[in-house]
Amino acid sequence: MNKTVCVGGGPAGLYFAILTKKRAPETEVVVYERNRALDTFGFGVVFSDATLERLARADKETHDDIVSRFFHWDDIDVWVETKNGAREKQRSTGHGFSGISRRTLLEILIERAKALGVTIHFETNLATDGTGPSGERALEGADLVVVADGVNSAFRDTADDPFRREIDLRPNRFVWLGTTFPFEAFTFYFRSAPAGLFQVHAYRYEEGSSTFIVECSAETFERTGLREDDEPATIAMLEDLFREELAGHRLHANRSIWRRFPVIKNRRWHAIDSATGANIVLLGDAAHTAHFSIGSGTKLAMEDAIALRDCLDAHPTSVATGLSAYETERRPAVESVQRAAQVSLEWFETTARAMRHDPLTFTFSLLTRSLRVTHENLRVRDPSFVDRIDAAVEAASEAQTKRPLPPRADGKRAPRPPMFTPFRLRDLILENRVGVSPMCMYSAEDGTIDDFQLVHLGSRAIGGAGLVMTEMTDVSRDGRITPGCAGLYDDRHVGPWKRVTSFVHKHSAAKIGLQLSHAGRKGATKEPWHGMDIPLSASESPWPLLGASAIPWTPGHATPKEMDRADMERVKRDFVRSTELAIEAGFDWLELHAAHGYLLATFLSPLTNRRTDEYGGSIEARLRFPIEVFQAMRAVWPAERPMSVRISACDWAEGGTSVADAIAMGRAFKLAGADILDVSSASTVAEQRPKYGRLYQVPFSDAVRNEADIPTMSVGNISSYSDVNSIVAANRADVCLLARAQLYDPYWVRHAAQQQGYAMAWPNPYGVLAAYNPRSD
Ligand SMILES: Cc1cc2nc3c(=O)[nH]c(=O)nc-3n(C[C@H](O)[C@H](O)[C@H](O)COP(=O)(O)OP(=O)(O)OC[C@H]3O[C@@H](n4cnc5c(N)ncnc54)[C@H](O)[C@@H]3O)c2cc1C
Ligand SMILES: Cc1cc2nc3c(=O)[nH]c(=O)nc-3n(C[C@H](O)[C@H](O)[C@H](O)COP(=O)(O)O)c2cc1C
Repeated sequence: MNKTVCVGGGPAGLYFAILTKKRAPETEVVVYERNRALDTFGFGVVFSDATLERLARADKETHDDIVSRFFHWDDIDVWVETKNGAREKQRSTGHGFSGISRRTLLEILIERAKALGVTIHFETNLATDGTGPSGERALEGADLVVVADGVNSAFRDTADDPFRREIDLRPNRFVWLGTTFPFEAFTFYFRSAPAGLFQVHAYRYEEGSSTFIVECSAETFERTGLREDDEPATIAMLEDLFREELAGHRLHANRSIWRRFPVIKNRRWHAIDSATGANIVLLGDAAHTAHFSIGSGTKLAMEDAIALRDCLDAHPTSVATGLSAYETERRPAVESVQRAAQVSLEWFETTARAMRHDPLTFTFSLLTRSLRVTHENLRVRDPSFVDRIDAAVEAASEAQTKRPLPPRADGKRAPRPPMFTPFRLRDLILENRVGVSPMCMYSAEDGTIDDFQLVHLGSRAIGGAGLVMTEMTDVSRDGRITPGCAGLYDDRHVGPWKRVTSFVHKHSAAKIGLQLSHAGRKGATKEPWHGMDIPLSASESPWPLLGASAIPWTPGHATPKEMDRADMERVKRDFVRSTELAIEAGFDWLELHAAHGYLLATFLSPLTNRRTDEYGGSIEARLRFPIEVFQAMRAVWPAERPMSVRISACDWAEGGTSVADAIAMGRAFKLAGADILDVSSASTVAEQRPKYGRLYQVPFSDAVRNEADIPTMSVGNISSYSDVNSIVAANRADVCLLARAQLYDPYWVRHAAQQQGYAMAWPNPYGVLAAYNPRSD
């Protein structure tokens, strides 16, 4: 007979025991739990409707028991303090969650497990060699050991580290408390105290019982002077702070210690026990955690149990194969939840950033914090809430552009989608919030562009983008990446560019910006269709390279010269000359490219700037030369036209640019006269490890915009109109740049308008479309 041992009688261990005994009754299933039955910590646990459906499919009996004891709610209430100190509530609906007491849940699981024939040994703490308190050898004869011993898993954390754990202890402090206050909705409070900001996540889980989690920053906690395990003092302080909210109800503790949330990941989830030869698998919190702000660990633990049982059943002849299948199948789902949880926990670590917004925008930022819930999802859940948001974005746009919004062309009275609100920088007004991100086309000859750029940029301007940025255009011949790169370093280059800008101005509502750059140490390579970053051969006349320091891109690339003062003066003059030519060429907007490892970026990143003079060292010193260049350009660029700077806010490599550095860049360029920061990341060093995912650079934009107090453009894997609406409405960026999405579809913006039922004006030659009705005969 097979034998399964579960170490830990929490939701993961018990639910797996239930599913195993139910599906394979001949298996001996034993659970060891060090605590007494129902001797549990924590208060309520939360499940979404989707999780409940999964539980119903896995074991109808436990599902029905759970549902009969649930407290269900649809609303989320967010209480924020307004500028004059009053408290304001924002309510949104349609969220569909349920809560149950952890104790009740365990009671249901224990009863069900016992009824199916699972043996549970309470008050039995197992040592990691499997020995029980009376010397019993608990793991003997087991062909499967399920390690479900929770977040501080001793079975996982053995000296040989078979699972290769990674634990990231987050800085915020939180404490889990209970109260009798009957919350009507899932409720968030944000409350300022002399020590700092306190945020509460609260929800009711049964008649007369609610969870009340309080979170604050490490600094705020420090200022309270509380000891982390002083429950009476914690309760006294919090009852006083939340007196108004609790309306006479008390808080109560249950092992309520001020903890730091551990983000736990394991490179492997299963191994072979060297002593017994048994297969071991991690389940629940022992394997992974996801911050409580996006749903409970309990849900993940129980979904793990379902997935593991399914995979073992699919491979009945080999436990090891079943475990491999489990890991392959379950890992992407868990990692996806963990990514969302990470963005969410970071939102709560930096809430002060969003506190500068009005209460409605703050609430929208909170609801969309994991970047999974979007403007569109919220519209389905709560259309009137989203209408209020859209109206607020319209009002903000009118105030910001100092121009009343014209009525919608389609005559609709509903507020327009946020992406179609205008945005002003100096005297320039963008008609909408979508830009074409700069994209090298490598199709020029000695810097001179041709009709390719006219068609490429012209079609995207007609396609509806508010801003069309040129590709990286170089300020000198030696500043090119490849022989095919566009330039603006010679009078000859002006005419073809003027043809492009004139076309865009004449035939579209788009504004056109020029991105100016110098390739630095990444120059003198072949066009990428010959392979990425391949240096030009000697016969192809490679040019000399420059950098902040003499560090080659890779050992196979030429070493750049560390720039001396004369080089700096020459490069600065080149940028100024190109700026003057850009005025002649008729550009509306100028961007300084200081990202992606090109010349100016080599000054900004500590990985590529090892200088010991006044241009290296602190972020202020690393900024000195890029700022000098920017100021020289700004001095000649017309005062009424805006300038942006593209930065890499993160190098995705150890020791690289930090978010604090990126914020410092935002502040410094703002002071130097930049109107907006184009917040990108990566490409600084060849050994980078970027984590590309949907909207992966949006948090950098949010940080720079809301801490450096400068408008931003966000870019990178933004591909749906709902994401653009969400980013703009939550004030995470002012403009969204889309590169590849608009390569695939030059009419991306017009399609987005059409899908949202929003009418955009056409250029005259196509204007007939609006009036044209095909005859039906
Ligand atoms: C203080 C606190 C409060 C929480 N409150 C909530 C809440 O209100 N709602 C919510 O959804 N989530 C809550 N969580 C998170 C939640 O507990 C977990 O995400 C979830 O329970 C994971 O289930 P699990 O079975 O993997 O682990 P756990 O529930 O932690 O279960 C692990 C079990 O293993 C037992 N154990 C550990 N070592 C041994 C050993 N050597 N021998 C025998 N038994 C052992 C432990 O006693 C424990 O019962 C809380 C977490 C903490 C730290
Ligand atoms: C073909 C191509 C060329 C690019 N060239 C440039 C460039 O010249 N300057 C620049 O700053 N970024 C350049 N990028 C990066 C894009 O502007 C953008 O930041 C990146 O593609 C992420 O956006 P996306 O996910 O919308 O494509 C290029 C990207 C692509 C796909």
